[in-house]
This record gives sequence, structure tokens and C-alpha cells, in this order.
Amino acid sequence: METKKFNEITRIPLAPLNTPVEPLERLTASIKGAPNLFIKRDDFIGPLVWGNKLRKLEYSFGAAKEAGADVVITCGAVQSNHARTTSMVARRLGIESLLVLNGVEPETARANYLISKMMASKILIVPDKDDRQPAMEEAAKEYRGSGRNPFIIPLGASDMYGTPGFVRAMIELRQQQESAGIRFSHIVVSSSSGGTQGGMEAGKRIAVMQDIDIIGISADESCSGLCKNVVRAANPILQMTGFDTINDSDLFVDDRFTGSEYGKPTAESEKAAELFLTHEGILLDHTYTAKAAAGMLKLIEEGRFSERDNVLFWHTGGLLNLF
Ligand SMILES: Cc1ncc(COP(=O)(O)O)c(C=O)c1O
Repeated sequence: METKKFNEITRIPLAPLNTPVEPLERLTASIKGAPNLFIKRDDFIGPLVWGNKLRKLEYSFGAAKEAGADVVITCGAVQSNHARTTSMVARRLGIESLLVLNGVEPETARANYLISKMMASKILIVPDKDDRQPAMEEAAKEYRGSGRNPFIIPLGASDMYGTPGFVRAMIELRQQQESAGIRFSHIVVSSSSGGTQGGMEAGKRIAVMQDIDIIGISADESCSGLCKNVVRAANPILQMTGFDTINDSDLFVDDRFTGSEYGKPTAESEKAAELFLTHEGILLDHTYTAKAAAGMLKLIEEGRFSERDNVLFWHTGGLLNLF
């Protein structure tokens, strides 16, 4: 395994991450022609945290600390899992955080926004997605002007600093495959800002798991937008570790399950969430994992997998928004 260079990247361990891989036996049995379905339980990462974001933030905060940052700035939607988790980690590490959130401030704070309000040092609400980046840059300029040292963590921590979190996740999966004597043929995962899927794509090369196909089900982006995000997230780490870079043609993405709006359930996502709940007692969130599960069920129906395939549904968390 080509992990030496990778292991040199600074990481701040924030939670036990060796999340379980479990068979989805009842779900598999309930679907005609289904492959063997399994699940990776990143929804088990830490109470309240529940999700993929912590993997990336271990590295983003490693970089922020190395840069001597005293305040981190990040962004997302008002109910962003990433922004909320960033504010929690910042408190944990004694760094200030500024969250730039787009949308309308809810009259009653709930779920991620409630926690963000409690945890963040400062929240700036902007009307639109496109307003986030300029607002973060402006805020960083102001901090610098007053002698502070800000560190911008981009949307979803899906840059060269955060993406290594999912390279590490693939190394973890490889060890789990080996000890369980299973080889996964496919991973199905929710994808948006690209760091999760991009890290997996880089990780499968670094951990020598090239025969696994990673299928990203879009939560919001078109296929071309999502490919751009994934390639942008994966390539710096591939370059750094001496691997060939990737392009759109190396990726499997599907944008048929976004529905009319980011975060709004669809008939298919509601059905998928119900199936996971009734057959396996597993909760999915509306914005990401239920749509990814809807995609996986459709792909099974379309004959994308053989009955001998071992397909891993990667649960990325996000459950706080159910409450
Ligand atoms: C629960 C959950 N799953 C999946 C994703 C998508 O991950 P990425 O933005 O790295 O593509 C997110 C991103 O916010 C998320 O919160």
C-alpha cells in the first residue's frame, strides 16, 4: 500500500472512526435480484456529530493548527451538517469559528442550526449560495486587518486539506475487507461538494482497491457539476502521493435523485428511508442518505449489479436534521 506519504499529513484525531460494516440481510432478501447489500456506519461517528464531516475535519483542523490559525471560517446552508460540525470541533480545539450560512434565518432554531448557534463564535447569514465565498473572503480580510490569523475551510471541507479524511476511510475499509474476507464490488454514497467521493476515489488508488466502483448519488448538483467537484477534490492528494490524476471519465455519478430542491424529500427517497427503517432499523436523513439509497434501489432495479456483487451503502450521517 502506497500510504507512507499519505501518513505524513497532519491529522487531529477527533473521534473513534473505525465505523462498523454490517450486512443488510433483510433488505437484501426483500429485493428481487438484489446483490449482497452492506452498510458502512458513519452515522455512528460520535453522538450528535453523526457523520462523514468529522473524517474531513480531522485533516482540515490539522492544517489550520499547522498554519497557526486562531479562527476558522466556513460556509454552508442554514441547516448545514458541515458548518455545524466545524463549529463544534472549533470549540473542542479552542479556536473561534465564523459560519457563513445561506438561506433564511429560521424563526425557531432547530437541528443543525440550533447547534451552530450555540457553538459558533459568529454566524453571518447571506441570501444566496453564491454570496458565501465572497463573504468568507471579506471576513478573512477583516480578521487579518485586526491582527488575527483566519483559516478558510471551504464548503464541505472538500479541498486538499479535508479530502484526506476519506482517503483514510478507504484504508480503513480495506483493512475491514481483509479481516472479514469480503471484497466489495461497489460503494454507493451521497455526493455534493465532492470531498467524500473525491477522497474515496483517491483512497481506492492509494489503498490499492482499484476494482471497486464508487457511485456518487448527487444531493443537488448536475452530473457535470458533481464530477467537477469530485475531480477537484481528488487530484491534489493524488498528485501529492505520486498517483495519476483522474478526470470525469473515471467517475460514476448519478443526478436523477435530487428531486426539485436540495433537502426536499422525493417519493423515492421517502420510500427508500422507509425500507431501511422497516427492514433494518436504520434511519436515513432526507437531504443526503435517503436520496443516495433511492439511487441505489433504482440501480438494483435497472440491473446495474449482479446477484454476486457485494455492494456497500456508505451511510454518511446527517441525522440531526430529522429532529
Ligand atoms: C450527511 C451528508 N452526506 C453526504 C454529504 C456529501 O458529502 P460531500 O459534500 O463531501 O460530497 C454531506 C455534505 O454535506 C452530508 O452532510
